[in-house]
Amino acid sequence: MPEQNRPSLLIPRDDIARRVDALAAEIVAAMGKDIHMVAVLKGGFVFAADLLRALGRQGARVTVDFVHLASYGAGKESSGRVRVMGEIPDVSGRRVLLVDDILDSGHSAARAVELLRKGGAAEVHVCALLDKPERRRVEIPADFIGFTIPDRFVVGYGIDYAEQWRELEGVGVVED
Ligand code: IMP
Ligand code: MG
Repeated sequence: MPEQNRPSLLIPRDDIARRVDALAAEIVAAMGKDIHMVAVLKGGFVFAADLLRALGRQGARVTVDFVHLASYGAGKESSGRVRVMGEIPDVSGRRVLLVDDILDSGHSAARAVELLRKGGAAEVHVCALLDKPERRRVEIPADFIGFTIPDRFVVGYGIDYAEQWRELEGVGVVED
């Protein structure tokens, strides 16, 4: 594994924690208290875990499932082709909150929404911690966004660069 420079901090962990609590309140106001969370692996797992408990503090009852999507290889550019790994969870008749780490080109979220709709979800709402709107290639309804960020490659809080830096508590920028 090549040595990577330590990321520079973009969003401190306390700012994330505050925003996650506010997001949970927004989500419950819009969706009600009966929520089926579908988290996108791998990058969405840390955010999903914190959001799950924040939703609980808002009085929501949340069930949880996962979809595993891959569009990135070891580089920084999306391939545009989204690979679905494993099974798509049964979401028929459910009010689904799709939870992902970043909306970049939009391909992965768009694919996930399509799969969940085909699977018979009653509603699909999209929540992402980070949004890079400048990079969007396909339209996607971004219902709940934690932070809008510029077109920089970020890591931390579950998000990786070539499988590194997921363990950072805040979000940082990787310089070349
Ligand atoms: P999209 O399909 O282009 O929207 O890409 C979405 C996925 O690409 C995200 O869920 C991330 O897993 C990954 N991704 C996009 N931008 C970044 C980044 O800045 N750092 C790390 N992963 C990223
Ligand atoms: Mg992802």
